[in-house]
Amino acid sequence: MRIWARLGLGVAALALLGAGALYGASEWVIRRSHAAPLAPIAVPHDAAALAEGARLATLTGCKSCHGDGKGAVWTPVDWREGQVAPPPIARSAARYSDAELARLIRQGVTKEGRTVFIMPAWSMTYLADDDVGRIIAWVRSLRPAPEDVQATTWFGPVGRWKILTGATRPSVVAEPHGMAKRPADSGWYWTQVLCSECHALTEARAHDGNSVPPLAPMAASYAPADFQRLLHEGVGAGGRYIGFMGTIVKENLHALGPGEVDAVQRYLRGVSARR
Ligand code: HEC
Ligand code: HEC
Repeated sequence: MRIWARLGLGVAALALLGAGALYGASEWVIRRSHAAPLAPIAVPHDAAALAEGARLATLTGCKSCHGDGKGAVWTPVDWREGQVAPPPIARSAARYSDAELARLIRQGVTKEGRTVFIMPAWSMTYLADDDVGRIIAWVRSLRPAPEDVQATTWFGPVGRWKILTGATRPSVVAEPHGMAKRPADSGWYWTQVLCSECHALTEARAHDGNSVPPLAPMAASYAPADFQRLLHEGVGAGGRYIGFMGTIVKENLHALGPGEVDAVQRYLRGVSARR
């Protein structure tokens, strides 16, 4: 009997040790401080800039992820995975300076210097200063509301394991890639900011369990009118159902103007032809 008791204790101790190591190592990744210098950012105050900021918040997904700014619960509490709950923006941003907000958006680093998760700084890092300023103008127009979601994002053991193995990667971007102004020929720009989170230009990729086709040859194969329909209605060529891509168009990408959609396709045709 005694030997079994000892063995049981040994196994329990090992399990505890493992859990401790998993917790400790993932906690280090979650909490560690990232040195990311702050740069001043100009925030416009005119109505046109605010309206453009609201459109950019639709395009980049601030609105769809964060429940139109009020916060959202994406996954129910699960002790294994944890919970993903993008917080209410006005409440969270109140303690941020404009420069800290710009750094959060483009480098994925909080006011305190830890990385965020899930919020895609690796694509938003391409946002130009003027567009980041417009998004901040929109953020500052939001007010905390009684219906703001109170839940927070946290990670259970499986969620932490995914962080340690890189399946859930920290959003932190060491160097922002932003330029001062949105370029006049916006095809390259929108592709980086809005498509590169999921698509690679010339090879297929996996994103959240979906298989994502290579962007350049796929876009080049579309007739211009079909490409417009794809990015405004979320319907594929020939009326084809396109799954998650259709959802992301309806939530975010539909806010691209026809000229911008054309610019994206022109840029992608060029990439495809150069291969
Ligand atoms: C794909 C979903 C997604 C998108 C797109 C997104 N966010 Fe987030 N955001 C999150 C999640 C999840 C968190 C919590 C992350 C964490 O604490 O690790 C978060 C956190 C935040 C925070 C709080 C940071 C803190 O100190 O706790 C602010 C403010 C914020 N987001 C603003 C924005 C703005 C502005 C945009 C658009 C430019 C945006 N988010 C786009 C998912 C998203
Ligand atoms: C959040 C992830 C995500 C983003 C952002 C995204 N896509 Fe997609 N896209 C997908 C997925 C997933 C598919 C595959 C859909 C399927 O067939 O199930 C896809 C498919 C496509 C297709 C092929 C449609 C077909 O006929 O099969 C095109 C073209 C496309 N995307 C263009 C774009 C463009 C242009 C952008 C940026 C303006 C973009 N996508 C942004 C996830 C994304």
